[in-house]
Amino acid sequence: MTTFALRTASPAKTKAEAVVVGVLTDGTLAPGGEAVGEAYGRKLSGLLATLGLKGRPGEVAKVPTAKVIASPLLVLVGLGDEATPDAVRRAAGNAARAVTNAASVALALPADSPALVRAVVEGWRLGGYTFTSYKSKPGTPTTPAEVVLLTPAARRADVAAAVEPAQVVVDGVVGTRDWVNTPPADLTPPAFADAIGAAVKAANKDLPAGGRIKVDVLDEQRLDELGCGGLLAVGSGSAAPPRLVELTYAPKGAVAHVALVGKGITFDSGGLWIKPAASMATMKEDMAGAAAVVQATIAVARLGLPVRVSAFAALAENMVGAASMRPGDVLTTYAGTTVEVTNTDAEGRLVLADALGRAVEREPDVLVDIATLTGHMVLALGDKMAGVLGDDDVVAEVLAAGEAAGEDAWPMPIPEFYDERIRSSKVADLAQYDGIRWGGGIFAAAFLREFTGGLPWAHLDIAGPTFNKGGANGHVAPGATGYGVGTLVELVRARAAAAPSVPS
Ligand code: BES
Ligand code: MN
Ligand code: ZN
Repeated sequence: MTTFALRTASPAKTKAEAVVVGVLTDGTLAPGGEAVGEAYGRKLSGLLATLGLKGRPGEVAKVPTAKVIASPLLVLVGLGDEATPDAVRRAAGNAARAVTNAASVALALPADSPALVRAVVEGWRLGGYTFTSYKSKPGTPTTPAEVVLLTPAARRADVAAAVEPAQVVVDGVVGTRDWVNTPPADLTPPAFADAIGAAVKAANKDLPAGGRIKVDVLDEQRLDELGCGGLLAVGSGSAAPPRLVELTYAPKGAVAHVALVGKGITFDSGGLWIKPAASMATMKEDMAGAAAVVQATIAVARLGLPVRVSAFAALAENMVGAASMRPGDVLTTYAGTTVEVTNTDAEGRLVLADALGRAVEREPDVLVDIATLTGHMVLALGDKMAGVLGDDDVVAEVLAAGEAAGEDAWPMPIPEFYDERIRSSKVADLAQYDGIRWGGGIFAAAFLREFTGGLPWAHLDIAGPTFNKGGANGHVAPGATGYGVGTLVELVRARAAAAPSVPS
């Protein structure tokens, strides 16, 4: 893991193998890089022109400095019009992949506020992320173990204090990416449950006795005893049985209680309503919600936030087998509600129904679920942004958290008439799906709402932003993105900050 050392030194005088500076669209070097601009003087604009740099996001150029500054290599990255945290996160990510072979690097990107320092740390580490566990020759890491972050504000306590929490969030995003990228044969529900147990155990080692996370893994027998008909039905076609993993982080003096529920379909073939082959290609991603709630819970505990977190990872594999659930089957969820299965590919809502039922029993102040739930949401909002549905105030809370975390999300409504659509089954309480494509992402949310016990609730449909099928851009690597961890951690952080302080 890369560490970051803050220094006030001038980027023109700092001797590193490479110095990274931002370029704005007005042709100036971004804050933090002024000294480099002064060293180049009037030659700067000509240099940028020769390089074809316009300061746009995504631009990167590497320039031998010929001793104009102390470091031999200058890396210029486009920032756009303004050095916002989002722009800096992206630019730092692009820089991380451009610096391919340097034993020492100094980042002179805008970093004179806690939000900007956070953006540099996140961007650099996430942009440089690669998943090499399955490469027989992974190669040696080419970025240095320690990066120097140059900022005139290095001695400010709030700025210096921003590094560590950013690292914790990045660890959670990286952990999520690793799990999502893992081949589905190696991350079956039991294997994933084991991996969660191991991750929590590792995190607990560094946590104070009162601030550790408790893990309960419910296996198929236990799920049967409890009547988790959704998880059992979805898992019935797989050789690997389902699991429900329940995490509890209950620090002393908690000022709020947040429940997080994640969809953990370790592979979604569609079941008997089998998916077209092309749609199945990346369906190892279908456990990303579960990965995000677990990693967010670990991050919250490591940050020591005074909020109780109850997290639920609903794990099953949706496969074709002799015992697969069939269209026409009726299952009974944990809460006792009966559901007619109409499309075996709408499996996410079935496992979430059980997990939400379990979460409601903990009586949290707020309930948030996160799931790669519907292709409909990808059609509605594109593949870079989550849809957020539920109670208006909780939706607003999630959107604000997403904003702070640099994760794009957009509100979607649940119009009243969906209540009728979800009740259109002639044999069971609820129809799992009514076969009408229009508003399918909304239907799914209306369905989930039935299992929220009337608690304040929001649902994040992350089917779009979870997996990047294209190349790297900014801090977003190819494959798993780790979307959601940042938003969930921010949500908990905001709850902690908003609560009336308890007299100590
Ligand atoms: N896991 C998929 C949704 C999905 C689609 C995730 C694309 C990531 C990228 C989900 O289980 C599914 O198959 N949904 C169906 C729902 C339908 C049958 C009601 C869909 O989107 O078509
Ligand atoms: Mn499906
Ligand atoms: Zn699915």
